[in-house]
Amino acid sequence: MTEKNESQKILVLLSSPRKKGNSTTLANEIIRGAESEGANVETVRLHGMDISPCQACYACQKKDSKGCAIDDEMQTIYPKLLEYNTWVIASPVYWFTMSAQTKLFMDRCFAFPTYAKKSLETAFVDKRVAIAMSYADTDAFNSGCVNALHTFQDAFNFVGAQIVGMVYGSADAPGEIKSNTELMARAETLGKKLAGS
Ligand SMILES: Cc1cc2nc3c(=O)[nH]c(=O)nc-3n(C[C@H](O)[C@H](O)[C@H](O)COP(=O)(O)O)c2cc1C
Repeated sequence: MTEKNESQKILVLLSSPRKKGNSTTLANEIIRGAESEGANVETVRLHGMDISPCQACYACQKKDSKGCAIDDEMQTIYPKLLEYNTWVIASPVYWFTMSAQTKLFMDRCFAFPTYAKKSLETAFVDKRVAIAMSYADTDAFNSGCVNALHTFQDAFNFVGAQIVGMVYGSADAPGEIKSNTELMARAETLGKKLAGS
């Protein structure tokens, strides 16, 4: 294990309500790859957490802001977003885009620069992001997965974060995605890449 890999820390944000669901299964394969290279991984399950929608009060954008004005469990995630420079976001496709749980998290990231004591232009530039998604329909286009992938690309490109990779595939019943061995192998490889190898 190299020194570089020992220092590699990865935050995984799971949004499916299904603990053994497909997006989580893909994320677990990313984790497996990353841990095999010595990464330290912390997982957060967004589903079930008390995370309210952004209320557009702009308190987080004011000079000398102390952060997001909403006192809910997103406050426990902001310090982790600061601590970890590599984020894995796992989401099922719901209604042709990312899940609502994921979108709530994304909207609340509007306040992240305040916690980083930086601007929107600079707060995310050190961040590396990987995406894992699953859908029931035949492919990324029919399922609407592309809409979510484009949103992630646009959002993270806008704030200067790097998308290291995206893995996504078709499966419906929980864990069914395991049978897509080629996709699982790509998820593992992505994990290794995140860990720096
Ligand atoms: C509310 C809801 C909406 C869904 N919308 C879509 C959709 O628009 N397109 C699609 O292909 N699958 C859709 N699905 C199927 C899920 O994306 C699919 O089962 C996925 O693998 C679930 O991931 P998970 O196991 O990580 O929760 C939907 C499922 C639910 C529960």
